[in-house]
Amino acid sequence: MIKEIKAKEKINATINIPGDKSISHRSVMFGAIAKGDTHISGFLTGEDCLSTIDCLKKMGIEIEINGTDVLVHGRGLNGLQAPKERLYVGNSGTTIRLISGILSAQSFNCELTGDASICKRPMNRIITPLSKMGARIKGIENDGYAPLRIEGTKLKGIRYDSPVASAQVKSSVLLASLYAEGETYITEPARSRDHSEIMLNYFGADIRTENGVIISKPVKELYAKDINVPGDISSAAFFMVAGLIRKDSHIIIKNVGINPTRTGIIDALKIMNGKINILNERTSGGEAVTDIEVFSSELKAAEIGGEIIPRLIDEIPVLAVAAIFAEGKTIIKDAEELKVKESNRIAVMKKELSKMGADIEETDDGMIIRGGTALHGAVIDSHKDHRVAMSAAVAGLASDGVTRIEDAECVNISFPSFYDILEKL
Ligand code: S3P
Repeated sequence: MIKEIKAKEKINATINIPGDKSISHRSVMFGAIAKGDTHISGFLTGEDCLSTIDCLKKMGIEIEINGTDVLVHGRGLNGLQAPKERLYVGNSGTTIRLISGILSAQSFNCELTGDASICKRPMNRIITPLSKMGARIKGIENDGYAPLRIEGTKLKGIRYDSPVASAQVKSSVLLASLYAEGETYITEPARSRDHSEIMLNYFGADIRTENGVIISKPVKELYAKDINVPGDISSAAFFMVAGLIRKDSHIIIKNVGINPTRTGIIDALKIMNGKINILNERTSGGEAVTDIEVFSSELKAAEIGGEIIPRLIDEIPVLAVAAIFAEGKTIIKDAEELKVKESNRIAVMKKELSKMGADIEETDDGMIIRGGTALHGAVIDSHKDHRVAMSAAVAGLASDGVTRIEDAECVNISFPSFYDILEKL
């Protein structure tokens, strides 16, 4: 599908955005291996989270979906059944990496695969620590890549100093640690999102963090809980940037999760002089939730790097769009992880935004954006990457002429209502 985007001014709106992708994946996955019924409200029914549900159903878990309400009939830590066919994770890195931690400890064997993008993304980052725990996991066709074969076995706790700040790696090891003999200790070079630690503990796990070391004790069972999924700050980010870069605009985004491991985008946009207010802060299921208010702003360039990167890794494509509208040279560094996302987001953002007139230089670990260039509409190849498509759409709101986004339906991965909300603005 090709989506046409035209310029919009004076955006004044109050919007609701769909549930958090990371929390939605975890709610059904952890619910499946907990004892009892887990009721989830505000679940993100994007393709990635539906892939997780599909995999769990193939292992005998009954899951009922009613709009954004989901009911998981959990079967306990050892209740999964051997799937009759290969598990298919679609485009979802979170599904394949997290579920591999669970599957490594089962009493059955299975195979997992996904779409073309998934089969190119590195799996050694989970194969290495899981193998240290005793797991039998390997690439079937290519070493270190999906399709993967996992032969379930007994695991032991390890000490693992992860070379990457990745919540998917950390969560995979934590899930395996629930089944392992002995404690597991994990460190990471910078703190990644901690939804797994919060939610697993909520379900009865024993995970604590001491001086930056995450320590997990095996447990006998997890127990079902009700979960209210907050709106996804990664989805809110597109409308935050839209409000900041369009003249005379004011947007309120309701019910957004602001777990501190995820709020790098708010910090970065504030450093860039963005007028953003946090309204009505509250907590739900151990996660902080708020309404976010943004006003049109005269953005200024900034240097973004170091520990903030894992806290805004998924928002860098749209941060690059904000930087085009900022005065001066924005440098994004320490973000080499962008190369192994759904697409190589450094190369792709440079290529596609340049077509619209942006001045972007690709570097080894990020990009340099010289702000202040006027944008014009262009034909944008989304590379089937949801966040590339949505970032280009936001740039299109502030461009002369029409922007045409190819394979625009890829937004369904994380934000199926994106174009509807955009049109209603
Ligand atoms: C996620 C972790 C991040 C993020 C992804 C979701 C998660 O990936 O980019 O969209 O839910 O754990 P990495 O673990 O590769 O950093």
